[in-house]
Amino acid sequence: MSYRINSFEEYKSEYQKSIDDPAEFWAGIAENFLWQKKWDTTLEWEFETPKVEWFKGGKLNITENCLDRHLEKRGNKLALIWEPNDPKERFVRLTYRELHEEVCKYANVLKKHGAKKGDRIALYMPMIPDLAIAVMACARIGAVHTVVFAGFSASALADRINDCQCKMVLTADGLYRGTKEIPVKAVVNEALKECTSVETVIVSERTQWNVKMEEGRDFWLHQEVETVDKNCPAEPMDAEDMLFILYTSGSTGKPKGVVHTCGGYMVYAGYSFANVFQYDESDIYWCTADIGWITGHTYILYGPLLNGATTLMFEGVPTYPGPGRFWQVIDKHGVNQFYTAPTAIRALMACGEDHVLSYGLYSLKVLGSVGEPINQEAWEWYHIHVGKEKSPIVDTWWQTETGGIMISGLGGLSPMNPTHAGYPLPGIQPVLLDQEGKEITENGVEGYLAIKHPWPSILRTTYGDHERCKNTYFNTYKGYYFTGDGAKRDENGMYRIIGRVDDVINVSGHRFGTAEIENAINSLDEIVSESAVVGYPHDIKGQAIYAYVITNKPVETPDKIRAEIIEAVVGEIGKIAKPEKIQFVSGLPKTRSGKIMRRILRKIAEGDTSSLGDTSTLLDPDVVDEIKEGAL
Ligand code: WT7
Repeated sequence: MSYRINSFEEYKSEYQKSIDDPAEFWAGIAENFLWQKKWDTTLEWEFETPKVEWFKGGKLNITENCLDRHLEKRGNKLALIWEPNDPKERFVRLTYRELHEEVCKYANVLKKHGAKKGDRIALYMPMIPDLAIAVMACARIGAVHTVVFAGFSASALADRINDCQCKMVLTADGLYRGTKEIPVKAVVNEALKECTSVETVIVSERTQWNVKMEEGRDFWLHQEVETVDKNCPAEPMDAEDMLFILYTSGSTGKPKGVVHTCGGYMVYAGYSFANVFQYDESDIYWCTADIGWITGHTYILYGPLLNGATTLMFEGVPTYPGPGRFWQVIDKHGVNQFYTAPTAIRALMACGEDHVLSYGLYSLKVLGSVGEPINQEAWEWYHIHVGKEKSPIVDTWWQTETGGIMISGLGGLSPMNPTHAGYPLPGIQPVLLDQEGKEITENGVEGYLAIKHPWPSILRTTYGDHERCKNTYFNTYKGYYFTGDGAKRDENGMYRIIGRVDDVINVSGHRFGTAEIENAINSLDEIVSESAVVGYPHDIKGQAIYAYVITNKPVETPDKIRAEIIEAVVGEIGKIAKPEKIQFVSGLPKTRSGKIMRRILRKIAEGDTSSLGDTSTLLDPDVVDEIKEGAL
């Protein structure tokens, strides 16, 4: 690809160009893609409404860019390698030609059941090739995919399906993840009791379990594909037509549907993948995320396929059947670029070094990290034991809302500084703001991280509620996209992300809003009268969830009540949101206006009670002592 940057000097000059004239810069990058019709205007924007439009008037289909245009030169090249949960099971390989055909067939199945451009389709699936195929099949016909991580509960799935009124659900019989088995289809059946918009369910076979199929609504994929044509023309999409919705948590209310559109997302996914990972034509690339998260969307599927890369998709977990699994997979398939999360590195680090030292890992060229700040110890362990001190590490900072990597080194080109994400990618204009929202321009400072100019894959709205998008991201600091993160900029201008400054908790790289968890706990209204949830540092997960709960009767069986609270959270959201610690309290520290002082609760949860600050203005200062004494 002619947009590949090959030196740090070149990065600097590209960055300068992208600042001098962003529209001109991105128009040049966009020329590298296949457009059915060229765009009329490159960029129109204002952050007030907000309104951002990239490549307006352009027509394209992202799957033609991911698949069709590679067929001539790369038809027999591997597009996808699938590694199953159990290493004894056979892996699967699909060439670009094969993947293209599978996508077209699945797209025809969707059409056969009445799906059309603009319809929303929910995917609740294991990490199997059918998931990759299903995502692309939606994009092929212009249906909007919304992938829900298959670890969320039936109730969380139903909320998402209802919020965007999905017409179809694509799923599977069951899934294997490490030693766990999840009855995926049964979860869908449960969720659909609450959803009236869904007309059709397409089910992939994974576990061969006996599942309940509803006549007239549920169909087996393997039977359906037998009946359809293997050609499917790609639906012409406007650059600003919706490509997908992905739900993510914020400080308030229910998760919101972040909307990405076709043209800008494509350009940024393709460009950022090639440059951050420095992908070369014959490389094998592996991102360990789940496609249920944005990392999987952009850097397992779209980014790699846009570049004609070979992307590896892994069904399992880092520690199954043992802590050497990642390294075994890297050696088995000759992985060149490896992209994972700090929480996985810390979990493996805790298992000692032997499991990694027994693998060669000679193929590795670039290592990536994503999801949360990577601490120094984990960075060094990754660098020394996995990278053998020769593979550069890219610490990639970005968000569901940004669509692609924003601040990161370019593998091997940029200077590295452990725990620092580094410099912004071309086209990205980060700023640090003070309390008043004024830009702090010098280096060696700390502030709120915001972005002052749109890039092609910035979110366009939150589904069905543009006001919420405005309030969450564009209202806090006028004229900026606000990230919700705090950051430092060192003397060399490198960014170091400190973490969220809002009520969002990042557990193992997954985002939860405190309000979301509190609502789940408060739903036990027979037992709970009020709760407050905060994050606290956890050795492996980065952060874990600490819940303070006021009960409405004396707590006689604390373990039983804790189990009920956990069950409520797992039922409403999913296992990944389980509170680690639950402390029963008689009151919460509140200001006179009734606002919970989370800062105090966070300090207590961290075990740091020496610097609680002035608590004398609280409604009931004594409650702080009680909470301190009972801290877990
Ligand atoms: C939040 C976004 C898109 C990546 C997966 C998570 C934190 C993400 C880093 C990093 C420090 C990071 C931020 C951000 N985060 N990457 N390299 N260093 N923090 O996506 O669920 O939308 O969460 O994850 O706090 O705001 P997400």
